[in-house]
Amino acid sequence: MRLLVTGGAGFIGANFVRATVRERPDVRVTVLDSLTYAGSRESLADVEADIRLVEGDITDAGVVGTLVAESDAVVHFAAETHVDNALADPAPFVRSNVVGTFTILEAVRHRSATKPVRLHHVSTDEVYGDLTLDEPARFTESTPYNPSSPYSATKAASDMLVRAWVRSYGVAATLSNCSNNYGPFQHVEKFIPRQITNILTGRRPKLYGTGANVRDWIHVDDHNSAVWRVLTDGAVGRTYLIGADGERDNLSVMRMILRLMGHSPDDFDHVTDRAGHDLRYAIDATPLRDELGWRPGHADFEAGLRATIEWYRDNESWWGPIKDAVETAYEARQQ
Ligand code: NAD
Ligand code: TYD
Repeated sequence: MRLLVTGGAGFIGANFVRATVRERPDVRVTVLDSLTYAGSRESLADVEADIRLVEGDITDAGVVGTLVAESDAVVHFAAETHVDNALADPAPFVRSNVVGTFTILEAVRHRSATKPVRLHHVSTDEVYGDLTLDEPARFTESTPYNPSSPYSATKAASDMLVRAWVRSYGVAATLSNCSNNYGPFQHVEKFIPRQITNILTGRRPKLYGTGANVRDWIHVDDHNSAVWRVLTDGAVGRTYLIGADGERDNLSVMRMILRLMGHSPDDFDHVTDRAGHDLRYAIDATPLRDELGWRPGHADFEAGLRATIEWYRDNESWWGPIKDAVETAYEARQQ
């Protein structure tokens, strides 16, 4: 299989590419990534010889058309992904997430006229908006879209484009909406790596608001094994929700990080809350488990978090050079 992976130099994409090289020798991987602040060649350094990395933009119809024409399947991860950045400047989110997905869909549509190309579109549970803290409900495939942030609104728009291209043009696409990922190679702007690297650099961790907000954590390798399952066995046109029953409030995760790193549980600062901060996300992944037989391999969150802390301890050369600039930007926003 000739597989095109967009956003393969980002957090989830790089883990996906590394796992694919490791576990699927029959797959030839090409990565298309524009190497924004969130993309890094170093994340692919030890598989460099096994893949082709093309530095290019998913809104560039020329490069996208050429690469799609050479591929049997496309897994589309590339996006602007950080909610706080979207609040500060939504323009790149509209461009990459909406126009970028449109550009990929058009390339797949045109190529499919002569040769079938399978597309898997990677999305987020944030398209559904949020749940209250005290209800048992979780997101399912039929939950109405109700995005809160410019990030989730652009991801929702991209999902709608994919669904329309399936229905109107017969594009052979699947979609997945996953909950919050954690693991190695995640940018230090995100919650878990930010707190770990704050402690490692002698800064105090930062909690938005009271920390009552709930996220449904899944290890990045489990997200990626589910993406592979959907790509190979999923029904065209279907949306699969990906989650591993990992609901935890932010305060508990903060305290677990502090404990695992040998600090007192109150050794953190409360900072300005995020505007429009979604309260709770929770995924019901029953169809993925029952219909496709998928199971997560990292059910123990504390063990996964401990391994992630070790990875950041051992890989300061990967995150160290960007840490100060990230914290300077947060400080300017009193976060
Ligand atoms: P990331 O920000 O770590 O990486 C995004 C990658 O896309 C980077 O390598 C970046 O250079 C690339 N990129 C961005 N704009 C581009 C463009 N215009 N052209 C080419 N490349 C471009 O993101 P991530 O956390 O790895 O997320 C990957 C995908 O998974 C996204 O679509 C995101 O919406 C989705 N997702 C993420 C999570 C999560 O918890 N991180 C959860 C569910 C879904
Ligand atoms: P984040 O990693 O940005 O993911 P998302 O907002 O897309 O779910 O944030 C996860 C949660 O952690 C979210 O509720 C916001 C909160 N948060 C903090 O409390 N402190 C921080 O420094 C950051 C970056 C996030």
